[in-house]
Amino acid sequence: MIRPRRLRRTSTIRRMVRETFIRVDDLIYPMFVKHGKAEREPITSMLGHYRLSVDELAKEAEEVCSLGIPGVILFGLPKKKDRLGSEAYAQDGIVQQAVAAIKERVPELIIFTDVCLCEYTDHGHCGIIKDGQVDNDTTLEILSRIALSHARAGADFVAPSDMMDGRVRAIRDALERDGYKDTGILAYAVKYASSFYGPFREAADCAPKFGDRASYQMDPANAREALKEAFIDVEEGADIIMVKPALPYLDIIHQVCTQIDLPVAAFNVSGEYAMVKAADQKGWIEGEKVMMEVLLSIKRAGADLILTYFAKEVASLLREY
Ligand code: PBG
Ligand code: ZN
Repeated sequence: MIRPRRLRRTSTIRRMVRETFIRVDDLIYPMFVKHGKAEREPITSMLGHYRLSVDELAKEAEEVCSLGIPGVILFGLPKKKDRLGSEAYAQDGIVQQAVAAIKERVPELIIFTDVCLCEYTDHGHCGIIKDGQVDNDTTLEILSRIALSHARAGADFVAPSDMMDGRVRAIRDALERDGYKDTGILAYAVKYASSFYGPFREAADCAPKFGDRASYQMDPANAREALKEAFIDVEEGADIIMVKPALPYLDIIHQVCTQIDLPVAAFNVSGEYAMVKAADQKGWIEGEKVMMEVLLSIKRAGADLILTYFAKEVASLLREY
């Protein structure tokens, strides 16, 4: 008789035939940085996460690195928002300061910077508004300026999350022109107009003040379009392709991974994190186990890298083995 249970009989056998693993090397930890000194402002919807001032951020980056996590991605909260999101590309802007501080304290930690305008504009959209619409090509110029300012500050990878057409090429050209040929691009290539970003929008204060992001982020119903977006970003010069969110889009992660020959990252977003934490707090699920199962599913779908607010917890857990 064929008995698949033979391979499940003991934990040692199960360990030998296990197909998928989460490694600390797969993880990228998202962090929020704000102006000020000695500030650790808790983000209510994201238990265990804080808006940190640069000094606190550098300390935390050191802890992240000591856990073996290879990279962080930074999101900034500006002093002041305006029509053009001008702090986003200011050389003394909050993210630029943060990059420099981390590079000084933990040079081996790989720094990704989110390149977008929504945290910096007074209207909360990811691009420049013209005649009531997000204007694609005007936005490209600003995005290139942001990316360059991050590269100058020492970022290893810039990560455009705006979903404008042509931005990877525009940013690649700008980086090459200024001599930043080794600065990589992690492209948020397949980014859906998702309601799972809710807690992030509170954390980064970047909800749109009018309308929504459906004219630039993708329709959750579309799968073939995901491949189109991924191929375009490969063609334009991306180094790593991202799919976002992760858990509700495992099919998309799987398809992109089978079709694309670049590393694929998945963003286990704020809403995915908050749901696990909330249900755990209520005692309705075992949070730690659910966390591992979720991340395992993302790896099983094929993702090489996972951006996750769980990174520190996972890294500590993996250490115990
Ligand atoms: C900025 C940006 C968002 C996220 C990453 N970069 C929010 C959005 O597009 O509205 C979401 C991350 C998360 O929810 O964890 N464009
Ligand atoms: Zn944005």
